[in-house]
Amino acid sequence: MSDLSLAPDTAAALLRWYVDQGLDEAIGEEAIDRFALPPPAAAATASVTPMAAPAATAAAPTPIRPASPPPQRAPIPLESPQLVEDACEVARRATNVAELEAAVRAFEGCALKRTAKNTVFADGVVGAPVMIVGEAPGADEDRLGKPFVGVSGQLMDRMFDAIGMSRERDLYITNILFWRPPGNRTPTLAEQAICLAFTRRHIELAKPKLVVLAGGTAVKAVLDTTEGITRLRGKWATLRLDDGSEVPALPTFHPAYLLRTPASKRQSWWDLLSVDKKLKELGAK
Ligand code: URA
Repeated sequence: MSDLSLAPDTAAALLRWYVDQGLDEAIGEEAIDRFALPPPAAAATASVTPMAAPAATAAAPTPIRPASPPPQRAPIPLESPQLVEDACEVARRATNVAELEAAVRAFEGCALKRTAKNTVFADGVVGAPVMIVGEAPGADEDRLGKPFVGVSGQLMDRMFDAIGMSRERDLYITNILFWRPPGNRTPTLAEQAICLAFTRRHIELAKPKLVVLAGGTAVKAVLDTTEGITRLRGKWATLRLDDGSEVPALPTFHPAYLLRTPASKRQSWWDLLSVDKKLKELGAK
């Protein structure tokens, strides 16, 4: 076996790189060298079979072909617009939130699912007056399978508590993405578009009185705008859904941003007061 030992500095740098890529937990006692070649005998039988060479060309190199034809058609590339259509179609078929959750959990068309530990669908009360839509699960959410359970989620809980609302009673919480992007990288537009098909249906089925969009990425995706969060925050927009319904939506800063920039909490407090006022106007508080 080859010697895989690394100098301590190199090993530390490699571990740091793994963590940056989102590989932040060991799941086995023994490391598996996935680059190691299989033993020769296994290699010959694993996936290829030598073809019988015609007598006249017996000395020519032996071509190889697959042992059996591929059983199904090639998978659709994970950046294909077809996947967005598939997601829209699957989402449309769900007639309630439980069916939509099952459909999201069964959906294999988003590349992020391959690297995530859990599908993070929602938390809180289905049918609550306020639906919060954030960006994407982080490491804590990925591990626990619930949105906004890390430090930024805890700040969000305290903020809503200040206007007498909690996820146990009056909030329903989700993200535009159901799977953690590896290393918290920015999701591609294709990944966002696929998940957004489900998220838009999620809002239709959960029927909140209003939606709070937390952070620029959620705002851009859900309101389909290129305008930045600094311009849009605190201004009510109307979210038009595919079933013809309309919901008031308030863009606000992401709690992770507030942790980095505490001075902006003042503006978020105004946003919370605006939510409180809107709920009262709508007779939902
Ligand atoms: N940030 C988000 O946008 N969503 C979560 O669930 C956690 C952190």
